[in-house]
Amino acid sequence: MARLSQLSRSIAGKVAIVTGAASGMGRATAHLFGDEGARVAVVDINPVGVSEVVKEIHEAGGDAEGWTLDVRDPSGIRDLVADVVAHFGGIDILINNAGISRPAALDAEAYEDSWAEVLEINLTAHVRLLRAALAHLQAGGAGRVVNIASTEAMGAQPFVSAYTASKHGVVGLTRAMAVELGRTGVTFNCVCPGPIRTGMTSGIPDAAKEKFARRRVPLGRYGEPEEVAQATLSLVLPASSYINGAVLMVDGGLSIQN
Ligand code: NAI
Repeated sequence: MARLSQLSRSIAGKVAIVTGAASGMGRATAHLFGDEGARVAVVDINPVGVSEVVKEIHEAGGDAEGWTLDVRDPSGIRDLVADVVAHFGGIDILINNAGISRPAALDAEAYEDSWAEVLEINLTAHVRLLRAALAHLQAGGAGRVVNIASTEAMGAQPFVSAYTASKHGVVGLTRAMAVELGRTGVTFNCVCPGPIRTGMTSGIPDAAKEKFARRRVPLGRYGEPEEVAQATLSLVLPASSYINGAVLMVDGGLSIQN
């Protein structure tokens, strides 16, 4: 009898869509997947960033193609899926990563606009892309979906209620899909990053970052995008076939410190 089965720890040849791939964690994920031999669909609203990341992946010897897309555009999402399938021949992995934060107090005049924008990008777009790609993810019998939530999916801070609600929603959506669609062989998991050095946090001065990390993060520092990308990779490996509905904290221990 074989000592172990042949579950693979390689994503070489798999087709992966990564949204928000022009910056931060999405960019690191696209690069890591490219280095691991995946064929990467680099998707972002920022056309210059998309071209740069695709070029960098090619220069590193990887396979990538870029699509400029605002994930708020439902027909654009359907076109993206059709284009990716036409270009790469299928879809094995979906990383719903594009996200924004628009801080607003509940009584601010702009609250409803920021609520609508944040919910649409951070949550509704995940469902739309998933619905559009589902048949392709199911086709191979081993599709992988990772949704990027946040430590804000577990707790809350003032003045980012739309963001907090959206990220709680990402966890709920991931769990619902894991239960509803598990029999299809597609797994649905969720990564909750803590404070990470990306475009989203670039406006926070270093001194404030360090102070926050000293007080709140057991590891005493901000995380790097690559550290989150590695966690995401671990959830999409063929060998991770029994991880479904997991919520993986990648936060240096922030969420478990009293
Ligand atoms: P980032 O700002 O560096 O990257 C986000 C990317 O999403 C950008 O390239 C941006 O152009 C793209 N994007 C924004 N709106 C878009 C739209 N409508 N359509 C297509 N692309 C769009 O930020 P970061 O930090 O890498 O964010 C990635 C994910 O991680 C987000 O979902 C964010 O909420 C989440 N996150 C970030 C944390 C942090 O500390 N940086 C902590 C926890 C979660």
